[in-house]
Amino acid sequence: MKVLKVTVVGSINMDVVNRVREHPLPGETIIGEQTIYSPGGKGANQAIAAARSGAEVCMVGAVGNDAFAGPLLEVLDGNEIDRSFVQHKETNTGLAFITVNQKGENTIVLSQGANGLLSKEDVFLAQNTIAASDVLLLQNEIPWATTVYAMKIAKAHGVKVILNPAPARKIEQAEYPLIDLLVMNELETKEIFGEEIVSVKDALAAGKRIVQNGIQSVLITLGESGSVHVDLENELCTPAFGVKAVDTTAAGDTFIGAFASVDLKKSRIEEVLRFASAASAITVTRQGAQSSIPGKEEIEHWLEEK
Ligand code: RIB
Repeated sequence: MKVLKVTVVGSINMDVVNRVREHPLPGETIIGEQTIYSPGGKGANQAIAAARSGAEVCMVGAVGNDAFAGPLLEVLDGNEIDRSFVQHKETNTGLAFITVNQKGENTIVLSQGANGLLSKEDVFLAQNTIAASDVLLLQNEIPWATTVYAMKIAKAHGVKVILNPAPARKIEQAEYPLIDLLVMNELETKEIFGEEIVSVKDALAAGKRIVQNGIQSVLITLGESGSVHVDLENELCTPAFGVKAVDTTAAGDTFIGAFASVDLKKSRIEEVLRFASAASAITVTRQGAQSSIPGKEEIEHWLEEK
């Protein structure tokens, strides 16, 4: 099986995670049960998920000049991710303040730090690597102008572009042709496209409208209800695996990274979505972001047991 080359242009964060009984209400102060520092960032999480699922991964990103940078880079090294295009900026490393309740649901507030300074010039340095990739994977935790620039390089070289627009922001119609696959959850679908999704049927209809407007394909993740994949010719619903959630942080990142690591020219999309769903299901049963992402063998073994 061909090993896919995946380049991620995205964020690297240290997650400061507080476990709480209930999320605080506006104006309320509560005492957390436990605080954990754990490597995260949607970009780095997806890079690690893709690498652990078998892809050859290059990370384009930025860390700051503080003590968090070193441990985050070590995790990339430990997963054999090429980090020659990770820049050092004169600011803080990205931080994510995460609160996880007893149901495993999270809220996240970002301090962008170095991620907010990742520039087109930084991406330009990696243009040959992007051009030689099979897949370019992006999220929304770096400046949008940098993301668009990276997508244009990829498009010019026939590289598949997967965008996970999280956190949500509007996408101009003129940018639609840059995106081969848009992967988002139901909240992001509502914020970006105004599509209200309360059922799988709604998600299929929303996906159809989005692809008719010019984005090549759409994958909408629906938590416990699984996911839908829509392009102009086909639509596909994939159920989620029922597991008891401990912490849903990085569930979406694991799904996307695992999905991006498999060659769709060689595998059936149904199988790839099942593999990605299993990866994500395993992640939610564990605490933390990168620490919870499984590898290919574990995912395949888990699926055999199903
Ligand atoms: O998707 C989860 C990630 O979002 C966390 O690791 C946090 O860093 C934020 O970027």
